[in-house]
Amino acid sequence: MTGRELQTLRLLLSPLDVVRDMTDLVAALKEPGTFAYVGQGPVSAAELPAFIAGLAGRGITWTIRRLADNIAIGFCSLEVLAPAGVWAEFGIVLAPSSHGAGFATEATNAVIDSAFAQPRLEGVLAGMKPGNAAARKLVERLGFVPIGNVPGPRSDELAYRLNRADREAITSGRSS
Ligand SMILES: CC(C)(COP(=O)(O)OP(=O)(O)OC[C@H]1O[C@@H](n2cnc3c(N)ncnc32)[C@H](O)[C@@H]1OP(=O)(O)O)[C@@H](O)C(=O)NCCC(=O)NCCS
Repeated sequence: MTGRELQTLRLLLSPLDVVRDMTDLVAALKEPGTFAYVGQGPVSAAELPAFIAGLAGRGITWTIRRLADNIAIGFCSLEVLAPAGVWAEFGIVLAPSSHGAGFATEATNAVIDSAFAQPRLEGVLAGMKPGNAAARKLVERLGFVPIGNVPGPRSDELAYRLNRADREAITSGRSS
């Protein structure tokens, strides 16, 4: 799966360009609390450049910018899972100052639409800590359903799934 630029009402999602986006993403992600619930735990300001560079090697990562002022507010990602390549894992991290405005819902909808434009893809998964109420609300609002714990080393996380049929039911309702 290759990434392309995605535009929504208020956001521009551009495939991560580490050189172009580094300074802006460091500025966004160094806000205190950004990594409160993210899998690997807090990332210090000093560690952010290596963390951001590392995002480039995993699936597609998009830098999320507000269209109005081009300010970067975070990133989201989609990684096709081996071995079959018919499921993809979604992730998103926004700076806390951009929470509560619907930006995550807007960005996630665009990424999910682009994922299901790939005919082979059966569904999208997301994993999160059980106490991550904002992330659970986000995925539940978009129609993901809980399917138990993530297998393997992230078994402290809940897994959510959105399959193609469920997404199609939601989007056909959305446009009618
Ligand atoms: C998970 C995360 C991205 C969710 O962000 P969020 O700001 O809560 O989600 P949204 O941008 O969709 O905003 C939803 C809220 O904005 C409100 N809102 C305001 N304007 C809105 C609009 N135009 N459209 C939709 N919602 C809007 C909603 O009512 C909702 O408020 P509520 O939570 O009080 O019900 C964010 O908490 C985060 O970055 N967390 C750290 C990283 C993380 O945990 N990632 C999860 C991995 S999947």
